[in-house]
Amino acid sequence: MVGFGMIFDETYRPVFERRCHDPLYAVESGPVYLRLSAVASRTGERVSRFVASTPIAPFQGIQSFTGAAAIADLLATDCHTVCVATPDDRHFEAARAALIAKKHVLIEKPSVLSLRELDELTQLAAKNGVLAKVVYHKLADPDHKKLRTLYQDGVLRHVNNGYCTLLEPKSISGGQFAEWIAGRNPATYVAVHYLKLIDFTFGPEWSLCRVSATGQRGLVGAATGTTWDSVQLQIVYRHPDQREAAFDIHTSWVAPDNFPGYVDQEVQFRFDNGVWNAHQRKRGVELTVENRTPGELKYTPNYHYNGTFLEPWGERSQRGYGIEVIERFFQEVAFVEFGGSPNERAHRLSAMRALDYNDLSADRNCVAIVQALEAVLGRAASGTPGCVVKVNEPLGGLVLYEPGNATPLVIYHNRV
Ligand SMILES: NC(=O)c1ccc[n+]([C@@H]2O[C@H](COP(=O)([O-])OP(=O)(O)OC[C@H]3O[C@@H](n4cnc5c(N)ncnc54)[C@H](OP(=O)(O)O)[C@@H]3O)[C@@H](O)[C@H]2O)c1
Repeated sequence: MVGFGMIFDETYRPVFERRCHDPLYAVESGPVYLRLSAVASRTGERVSRFVASTPIAPFQGIQSFTGAAAIADLLATDCHTVCVATPDDRHFEAARAALIAKKHVLIEKPSVLSLRELDELTQLAAKNGVLAKVVYHKLADPDHKKLRTLYQDGVLRHVNNGYCTLLEPKSISGGQFAEWIAGRNPATYVAVHYLKLIDFTFGPEWSLCRVSATGQRGLVGAATGTTWDSVQLQIVYRHPDQREAAFDIHTSWVAPDNFPGYVDQEVQFRFDNGVWNAHQRKRGVELTVENRTPGELKYTPNYHYNGTFLEPWGERSQRGYGIEVIERFFQEVAFVEFGGSPNERAHRLSAMRALDYNDLSADRNCVAIVQALEAVLGRAASGTPGCVVKVNEPLGGLVLYEPGNATPLVIYHNRV
């Protein structure tokens, strides 16, 4: 692991806790055990606390590296695979170093913040014969799988527009992420979930056209600074029949801590022949326990994402699509490395690379939108709001237009 924070604890920890004794299994690979061997983090404090409080034998041997050489030290160990779960703007260097060291890599969303970085990582993965993948757990949410199934099967036809909102509480921006939030925005952090959902569910036979965004400042940082409280992003795609589809994605990390939807999420997509609505608070459970909600327990928990359970057959478990999607990555690595004869490894590698729900090479539209979004917010923070980025123009792949300026700026030259 590179990074050992909130997302490690929620989704990776349960995988390592279970799979060190209860192996992943596929007919091709047989049983494959996972062992968390080493961690690189900023301070190592969370690793020490975890090791001290976890009485599972394999975790007692974790090597913990900190400081400037932490990632190099981790890569010098015998690990097969590196998971990058550092803050949003600290993924690239770690992933690059791991791919150079010929490790399989899984990166938390947002994979990277620019197409230049994405190009470099995908080239390195191809050259070094390893997987480079990104975690988008919403694709494994059964409701989203059903939405995609209905669309791909032609039951819902031709998406025209939609909106998505995801509101995080103030405790995230003010507490959990206080160390790395300066200069960041909630859209890069969470709109990417919906960017991928839209791109993967309704693509690939369409093209991204335009990206614009605005937002608000003044709570997390200065009203004129570069740290954003909330962001409203609009993306426009064009279908092969030339009709456009537009999506508005609203994100925030300054919702009240006691808001009933702890991470409040709602989406609506409209089609030629239908409407899909999903509302986290309406689909799910509402729970109130005196003195325990909404702090320790949430009013509207999403047990499908992640929950701890007493199974009907007596076992204790922690499961959900947030965990499943991490296990699935390890199954893909296991298939490449142990799924048959070494002579056929290249064939297995290309089969796993062709999975565009998580392969980095299929993350181009999402990274293009993130790069455009960051450029538009950057311009707004330096006094030029209202920019738009157009995609795959004759001038270049990402072209930024400022209001009142006749000269566009190419921020990525190749085709997106
Ligand atoms: N899939 C999801 O829905 C989901 C949800 C939440 C987060 N995420 C993503 O996961 C990533 C991490 O988020 P988080 O919530 O886990 O953040 P977090 O709780 O703030 O933890 C960040 C971790 O990264 C470590 N770190 C910071 N800078 C580092 C560096 N330069 N080198 C090595 N380690 C470094 C920190 O070390 P210390 O422990 O020493 O501070 C900490 O362990 C983000 O990209 C985020 O967008 C995904």
